[in-house]
Amino acid sequence: MCGIVGYIGNRDAKPVLMEGLKKLEYRGYDSAGVAILSTDTINIVKSKGRLGVLEEKLCNVDIEGTMGIGHTRWATHGEPSDLNSHPHVSKNGKIAIVHNGIIENYIQIKDFLSEKGYCFSSETDTEVIAHLIEYNYEGNLVKAVLKTLNELEGAYALGVLSVDNPDMFVAAKKDSPLIVGLGENENFIASDIPAILPYTREVLILEDKEVACISGGKVEIYNLLGERQRREIFHVDWDVCASEKNGFEHFMIKEIFEEPSAVKATISPRIRGREIVLDNFTITDEMIKNCEKIHIIACGTAYHAGVVGKYAIEKLARIPAEAEVASEFRYRDPIVNEKHLTIVISQSGETIDTLMAMREAKRKGSRTLAIVNVVGSSIAREADDVLYTWAGPEIAVASTKAYNTQLSALYLAALSFARRKGLLDEKEYNSYINQLQQMPEMISSILGEREKIQKFASEHFNAKSIFYIGRGLDFALSMEGSLKLKEISYIHSEAYAGGELKHGTIALIEEGTLVVCSLTQEQLFEKMIGNIREVKARGAVVLAVAHEKNTEKVAKIADSVISIPDTDSILAPIAAITPMQLFAYYVAVIKGNDVDKPRNLAKSVTVE
Ligand code: M6R
Repeated sequence: MCGIVGYIGNRDAKPVLMEGLKKLEYRGYDSAGVAILSTDTINIVKSKGRLGVLEEKLCNVDIEGTMGIGHTRWATHGEPSDLNSHPHVSKNGKIAIVHNGIIENYIQIKDFLSEKGYCFSSETDTEVIAHLIEYNYEGNLVKAVLKTLNELEGAYALGVLSVDNPDMFVAAKKDSPLIVGLGENENFIASDIPAILPYTREVLILEDKEVACISGGKVEIYNLLGERQRREIFHVDWDVCASEKNGFEHFMIKEIFEEPSAVKATISPRIRGREIVLDNFTITDEMIKNCEKIHIIACGTAYHAGVVGKYAIEKLARIPAEAEVASEFRYRDPIVNEKHLTIVISQSGETIDTLMAMREAKRKGSRTLAIVNVVGSSIAREADDVLYTWAGPEIAVASTKAYNTQLSALYLAALSFARRKGLLDEKEYNSYINQLQQMPEMISSILGEREKIQKFASEHFNAKSIFYIGRGLDFALSMEGSLKLKEISYIHSEAYAGGELKHGTIALIEEGTLVVCSLTQEQLFEKMIGNIREVKARGAVVLAVAHEKNTEKVAKIADSVISIPDTDSILAPIAAITPMQLFAYYVAVIKGNDVDKPRNLAKSVTVE
């Protein structure tokens, strides 16, 4: 949600900011802007629309300066417009800020400042911060920012520069991500690492309620009391190419093709001999044996992975588990205690709903285990234990490889818990381990079917509504298949439990309605065949996803079948999602949609 960059050093700030914003555009793309300090003026150029619009505007103005801040926006307060775009400036024009997050008490501050004679030109919550810093400014920018932050309620990542301080700028964060990149006589801030990777791999991760004073030569970090804080340097060791398209048309298809290697990277290092070794887990066998309940909390795709996790943990480890969307969990006063384990799942590790829900579970005494992709992210830092999904950077807004790797991590945890509770015999356990190890190959073989899926997509891209049905784990899988389609194709879609459709929603099935049916759950196979017959009888066109061994049988009633390699039902979702992702992708491409940056969405949702 919104991307922030900042630069100070000897280079021309404009291209550094623009290149950085390009890397952050996935975070929000309804408007963008930069503020660059030239001698005693702050030059602001901002515009509604994608970064390309800002880039064109910048071509027509002559701005030079070696310090600046930039922003790409996902609107929360006020429609996307030139006026609501960041940076925002203070009344005297001497202070400019960029902001990611939501200031909850901005109306009170606005009223207060209005009484003091401040006028507001935007509808944003952000503008109050710029004016309040000016109001609090008594010659020291860091102190003015500290005073201001102590008066703000809500979430922020901020970049602040001022005409009176040409040799430094200030950054701050609370509940929204912000990192500082350390260069040679130059320093950077950014909402995410790829924005600074062309210049440096040395990073300081700001903690909540910290303020950094950044000059070309040094970075000083303070807490909100103004006390200096020490911070270890974090070295980024992943490949820059990982955040490039590398010849693929879109990040989304590139990331789908990375699924075999991502799943391998998540599973392989954790299976040593035949044993599952879960990093430096502090959860003891005793805790697992005494664990009374597991809460799985996440949002969007990560939540759908959590629903699979619930089935897997209950089936394998026999621990009662509930999966819940984080925004609901947090506000319903959930029953959680010290005998519970809370698993939070997040690709970015910064999703505010998930972070807050995790804090709520911790507050109530639960241990927390985070399944996270981004190393050093807020959720990873605050959880008791972390299981990283080594998927590499995921740039496309629609999550793909993150899902398969989240499932892989959940299966590893479920199998490890089951083993530690003595619930699986050697044969069963070894069979699961072998199949997990074969998952990368299985996904690769599904990728080989892409042309068939592409053809099917070309026949159905005009659909008005598409249903996804399945039973058990196939229902969980259907939820994710349906979300993928919705978010990038803009086709209405619903996921239904196969057995539930007839209780109402079947009324929507008519001649030609496309129904995507998953049949990977052996014990529910015949039931699903029955459900397919029900929709076929009402004119539906059926695309089925089924194990190879069942393809012939399913082909007799479905209009088209995508075969996936045979595997144990419980592990099937890891590979079975891939054809659904490909289907959504090709439908969106054929429709001419902006696949990597779908409308109204942003990659990292750091507002509630
Ligand atoms: O970074 P997270 O995994 O916490 O993000 C959670 C959701 O916002 C995310 O999965 C979202 O639903 C994606 N757009 C789905 O493709």
